[in-house]
Amino acid sequence: MGTLYYGDNLTILREQVKEESVDLVYLDPPFNSNASYNVLFKAPDGHESHAQMEAFEDTWHWNETAEKAFDEVMQSGNSDAAEMLRAMRSFLHDNDMMAYLAMMAVRLLELHRVLKQTGSLYLHCDPTASHYLKILLDAIFGKRNYKNEIIWCYRKWSVAAGQFVRNHDDIHFVTKSGGGGGAAFNVLYTDPSKGTMKRWKGQKQQAFFEDGVRKATSLENETAQSPMPDWWEISIINPNAVERLGYPTQKPQTLLERIIQASSNVGDVVLDPFCGCGTTVHAAQKLKREWIGIDITHLAISLIQKRLRDAFGPIPIDIRGTPKDLEGAVALAAQDKYQFQWWAVSLVDAIPYGGKKKGADSGIDGFIYFKPDGKITEKAIVSVKGGENVGVGMIRDLIAVVDREKAKMGVLISLAEPTAPMKKEAIAAGFYKTEYGEYAKIQILTVEQLFAGHKPDMPWIDSTVFKKAKREMKGTQEKLL
Ligand SMILES: C[S@@+](CC[C@H](N)C(=O)[O-])C[C@H]1O[C@@H](n2cnc3c(N)ncnc32)[C@H](O)[C@@H]1O
Repeated sequence: MGTLYYGDNLTILREQVKEESVDLVYLDPPFNSNASYNVLFKAPDGHESHAQMEAFEDTWHWNETAEKAFDEVMQSGNSDAAEMLRAMRSFLHDNDMMAYLAMMAVRLLELHRVLKQTGSLYLHCDPTASHYLKILLDAIFGKRNYKNEIIWCYRKWSVAAGQFVRNHDDIHFVTKSGGGGGAAFNVLYTDPSKGTMKRWKGQKQQAFFEDGVRKATSLENETAQSPMPDWWEISIINPNAVERLGYPTQKPQTLLERIIQASSNVGDVVLDPFCGCGTTVHAAQKLKREWIGIDITHLAISLIQKRLRDAFGPIPIDIRGTPKDLEGAVALAAQDKYQFQWWAVSLVDAIPYGGKKKGADSGIDGFIYFKPDGKITEKAIVSVKGGENVGVGMIRDLIAVVDREKAKMGVLISLAEPTAPMKKEAIAAGFYKTEYGEYAKIQILTVEQLFAGHKPDMPWIDSTVFKKAKREMKGTQEKLL
């Protein structure tokens, strides 16, 4: 059983996750790269730029929130963590790096709290902040409990003037207690070298070579296996990779399967507090672990739901923090306009568009692609209104956008009940006529109707625009264990 939370992991960890209840934590926090990542969905014509938006603002600045996080660490009762963070502040001063470290420190203290005494934590970062994070981990988890700095190396074409090309990430592996004694650790083995493979010939090669993740099997020639080292060569998710879902910082599943297999057992609880498009929860589900995923954007939560459905079929997932009723939707709209839009757009299976910097594209919050004749793909514009005051001008604007974008239809999702003139204006827009039927050109759906299961009335929605996670075959799980 898995639980998916929408929200800030600090609040959720504090309010929802019990002390010493988790066996394994993997976290891959965004780093202050000063860039907003764009989530790219594939449009039917193959171009991705049609529908991009900011998934999350990857910026950490020294501000009130950072100051608060710093104070909370000072008052946490963990004097080593407090002293270390204070020392860092006097060296770094109040800048973006320091903000990042304060936000990480306060979260690492919570993660330490929720880990069982036998638990392990893997912190994924890049060399920009890795050295500072390692010292923070020493302060919070204790030096004796530092196990490995895992180097994940990959090949990527990039230009690096005056230095070597940076082609690796760092993953710090720590245990909660006892220098690691008692923490689950299953020794994994590397694939044999080509020379060994040649000597083996035939069937034994087959059994070993399926993946490097798997634990050693009982082959005759066990002496030829070598325990896995602390550097892992795994390809990044390149633009053509089958597993690529379009989430900008998606990590390879092999990487997560390896971590989960090494540091947990079937039935254990795995937590990813920055779960993105859900690589950890996918791997945990596949390997029969219980899991908890947390992310601060609705986009991630709806992507994960879809990813798990595609990979495993209808499995029970406990989703918390996303609106379940009108009251929840009103609260979300009041709290964050953009999160509300992304959530509303996911209710009609539209591809989100725009974001905080919509600029020239304003008026479009999402696209629905459909194939009226089963062959040619057409689009509908989705516009979301989360305010209490709605009026006929919104319908006129939507009609103008539909015409400007050469779309066939428009869907207005409204939290408030539409007014009579709005309904009248929508009807007056007429119909989109196809060989197979007529569809209202402008359709208004309230959030309440969407909760009741209503959907836009459209011919043949084109689901190929959503990248699908590969179906996990029944039996793979058993084979891997
Ligand atoms: C680097 S991505 C993780 C990618 C993930 N490992 C994957 O394979 O898809 C970081 C994620 O952290 C989320 N995030 C950022 N700040 C957060 C916070 N305070 N609480 C929860 N999630 C947060 C972002 O929305 C983003 O999805």
